[in-house]
Amino acid sequence: MNFFTNFQSFLLTIILLLPFVYCQNIPNPRSQQTSSLIGNRFYFFSGDLSTTDYYNNSAANITNEVWYLDLSSSFNTATPPWNKDIEMPIGYILSASCVSPIDNSVFLIGGLTFIPNTAKINLGSSPVYVFNSTISLWTTPNIIGFNSSFKMRNGIQPVIDNYEKIYTFDTTSMTWSTLAISANAPPSLSSYTATLLPTGIIVYIGGTKTRSDNTEEPVSMYEIQTFNTKNYNWSTKVAGGDNIGTRAYHSAILTQNGDIIIYGGAMWNDSTIPATPYIAKLNTSSWMWSIPNLSQINSPQLSYHSAALYGDYMIIAFGQIPSKISRSFISLNNNLYILDIKSYTWVT
Ligand SMILES: *[C@@H]1O[C@H](CO)[C@@H](O)[C@H](O)[C@H]1NC(C)=O
Ligand SMILES: *[C@@H]1O[C@H](CO)[C@@H](O)[C@H](O)[C@H]1NC(C)=O
Ligand SMILES: *[C@@H]1O[C@H](CO)[C@@H](O)[C@H](O)[C@H]1NC(C)=O
Ligand SMILES: *[C@@H]1O[C@H](CO)[C@@H](O)[C@H](O)[C@H]1NC(C)=O
Ligand SMILES: *[C@@H]1O[C@H](CO)[C@@H](O)[C@H](O)[C@H]1NC(C)=O
Ligand SMILES: *[C@@H]1O[C@H](CO)[C@@H](O)[C@H](O)[C@H]1NC(C)=O
Ligand SMILES: *[C@@H]1O[C@H](CO)[C@@H](O)[C@H](O)[C@H]1NC(C)=O
Ligand SMILES: *[C@@H]1O[C@H](CO)[C@@H](O)[C@H](O)[C@H]1NC(C)=O
Repeated sequence: MNFFTNFQSFLLTIILLLPFVYCQNIPNPRSQQTSSLIGNRFYFFSGDLSTTDYYNNSAANITNEVWYLDLSSSFNTATPPWNKDIEMPIGYILSASCVSPIDNSVFLIGGLTFIPNTAKINLGSSPVYVFNSTISLWTTPNIIGFNSSFKMRNGIQPVIDNYEKIYTFDTTSMTWSTLAISANAPPSLSSYTATLLPTGIIVYIGGTKTRSDNTEEPVSMYEIQTFNTKNYNWSTKVAGGDNIGTRAYHSAILTQNGDIIIYGGAMWNDSTIPATPYIAKLNTSSWMWSIPNLSQINSPQLSYHSAALYGDYMIIAFGQIPSKISRSFISLNNNLYILDIKSYTWVT
């Protein structure tokens, strides 16, 4: 090998390294990640990087990466302020994280855990992971009251209240309790969103429910299950208003004035069909749906994504692009979208 060949390979190395170094600051597209807003940072935990696992679970690639967006200063959505944080002990999908309103610790509960960067489910893992974002430390607390009768679950969305209770896990004592409530309890639900109102009521929107013969059906957008965390009472609110299609794998945020804005998602039994309308608003005092007046064109349609409200901005990240999914290919997103919820315009 002469010098020239060496030099060529040296050049090639540099050329190959440059985009690599650059790309380290941009996360790969992913879906089914868990996310939480912690102060000025929007965190994303884990997710599936695979573009082919929709019909083939063994093709999953569950990353244990943790990324966050620093929202403390303004930025352009073309160059989001991405930062990589310490990785999770496991790969993790299909659940949600709750942020303690008292000390900002993050709890990841339920879901499926994986050996990182594989499709291998990690069976021996702890059912609760806690993240201290101040010092980037993951811990797995000892859990009280967890026994085999508490079935592991995924596709759930827990909420946390002001007393640090995640329904129904008490993070101050790390204790699970099973509420003995049967009155008005809804059937098993999956792929819904759960939003805690300031009144202590949890609002469950969309997803699927299990019929008595164990088959699934979509949850009507006009029969909204609520759970009152003050008196442990389930009740069904009958909603009205605009025509809102059923959906799963969508997201929901609560605005300051008590509206729940839902975004995205897909048909419960066909991930290639985006939910319509992809954005809708529910007034949680009148239980009336309305469709905001925004351009349907040039608007992203995503499912299995993340969304959070920061000020008047709904920030949407990652997820699948239903209209571009086929049997053999899952189109994943790593663009960032920001909706100004005062004017219902997409901003950059
Ligand atoms: C499923 O994915 C695995 C891992 O990528 C691959 O080995 C296998 O051939 C795939 N099966 C099918 C039916 O495509
Ligand atoms: C995070 O760690 C710091 C330093 O040990 C500690 O002061 C803080 O209370 C921890 N926060 C949480 C939420 O545990
Ligand atoms: C998973 O994705 C990472 C990052 O793209 C890649 O390095 C790794 O080889 C992938 N693993 C599998 C099993 O596909
Ligand atoms: C599991 O927990 C439930 C609810 O706390 C309790 O009723 C049941 O007795 C426990 N089962 C075992 C085997 O400990
Ligand atoms: C509980 O909800 C039901 C409707 O599902 C309602 O009739 C009942 O009054 C509620 N009870 C309390 C204590 O709020
Ligand atoms: C999906 O469910 C809808 C009803 O919600 C039904 O009309 C449709 O035929 C189903 N599609 C498939 C592919 O099963
Ligand atoms: C919700 O509906 C109530 C009753 O119609 C109305 O007074 C209130 O202004 C509405 N809230 C918002 C945020 O529009
Ligand atoms: C909806 O938006 C369009 C375009 O911005 C505007 O022309 C129209 O008047 C709006 N409609 C309503 C009911 O506000």
